[in-house]
Amino acid sequence: MAKRNELSLLVLVAMAVVVFLSVQVKSEVAAGSYTTEMQEAVRNEVKAFPDLRPGLIRLLFHDCFVNGCDGSVLLETSRINGTDGKTEMTSAFNGGLRGLEVIQNIKKNLGTKYNITCTDAVIYAAREAVYLLSKGKIAYNVTGPGRMDGVISRSEDPAKFLPTPSFTFDQLKESFRNKSLSTDDVIALSGAHAIGVAHRMFVDVNTLDTPVSYQKAVAVELSNGTDVIKNNVRDFGAASGYMDNNKERMEAKGVLDNSFYNAISQKMALFPSDRVLWEGAKAKVTGYKDKADTWYIEFGNSMEKLSKLPATSDPSKIEIREVCSKTN
Ligand SMILES: *[C@@H]1O[C@H](CO)[C@@H](O)[C@H](O)[C@H]1NC(C)=O
Ligand SMILES: *[C@@H]1O[C@H](CO)[C@@H](O)[C@H](O)[C@H]1NC(C)=O
Ligand SMILES: *[C@@H]1O[C@H](CO)[C@@H](O)[C@H](O)[C@H]1NC(C)=O
Ligand SMILES: *[C@@H]1O[C@H](CO)[C@@H](O)[C@H](O)[C@H]1NC(C)=O
Ligand SMILES: *[C@@H]1O[C@H](CO)[C@@H](O)[C@H](O)[C@H]1NC(C)=O
Repeated sequence: MAKRNELSLLVLVAMAVVVFLSVQVKSEVAAGSYTTEMQEAVRNEVKAFPDLRPGLIRLLFHDCFVNGCDGSVLLETSRINGTDGKTEMTSAFNGGLRGLEVIQNIKKNLGTKYNITCTDAVIYAAREAVYLLSKGKIAYNVTGPGRMDGVISRSEDPAKFLPTPSFTFDQLKESFRNKSLSTDDVIALSGAHAIGVAHRMFVDVNTLDTPVSYQKAVAVELSNGTDVIKNNVRDFGAASGYMDNNKERMEAKGVLDNSFYNAISQKMALFPSDRVLWEGAKAKVTGYKDKADTWYIEFGNSMEKLSKLPATSDPSKIEIREVCSKTN
């Protein structure tokens, strides 16, 4: 979410489609589940790029929220481009898109062995990034390999679906509802802002709803001209006034835990769309802040839902890509 920071045919053709679809279903069954062996293999690919883990979670969000999980965010060429001739990845919403090399490696090294598609790779990489960043606290179920890749990627689509950092709580809820996701999913998934970075362009903290000490700390972080700033105030070098009476959590820098909820209860988050959760859902936020285990489970459940958002099943618009950045 950062920078923020989804056949009417002749009878003969119809029959061919039916045959095609039944083959599809069989191969998914044949491929089975996302086994422990595959989890370890994908995890090793993710481990090779520690800095890209937060980016892999964002990649899933930006893929699945826009026309369902179909790997369309990875495409440099598409069978139907945007009105400007470009693909999703060129949208301002996808600025600073990271982790593409991890996806390519998963496809290259494990694709044939385990029938992992580009879409599967996005889903699995995010799952293992969550697992690693949470120190093994969050592990959720994903579907077995064989999810089909889309062939259409349009530059204008991300803006139609993805929330922006300036969204109100009502707008956040609506954008999630548009994807059949609930208010609880909004609140649970926002906790991913415990990790990762935001582009300075989207940082908006000099408002009455943030403490002055936090505004100053953000200014210090940005003072060296860097384009990006860590989302989590806990990870700042400078004094910010941030407090956490949970010592273990306070010291767990760079870890995906429930610290986001402690930070927003102090109005210390970079985006208005993070801070609105406190006023909008105090009880839920307080619950997550006080009970890490509840958030681990509910974040995992919401990630599982996100990873299953349906894409088109129109056979003319799907394939198994050979290379993740291009249609076949
Ligand atoms: C991969 O899929 C093909 C056909 O879709 C199937 O024949 C093969 O057994 C599958 N391999 C694995 C490892 O699941
Ligand atoms: C889509 O854009 C890419 C890159 O700009 C270009 O190579 C490709 O030919 C375009 N495809 C169509 C169908 O316009
Ligand atoms: C994952 O699926 C298995 C088998 O259906 C189930 O026992 C387990 O509770 C599920 N785990 C989660 C986190 O939902
Ligand atoms: C939700 O979907 C409707 C209908 O497509 C659209 O007009 C609206 O802008 C969407 N809302 C958000 C917040 O994305
Ligand atoms: C300066 O820039 C780097 C990124 O290049 C960043 O990690 C660091 O936290 C920034 N801020 C300060 C105060 O050093």
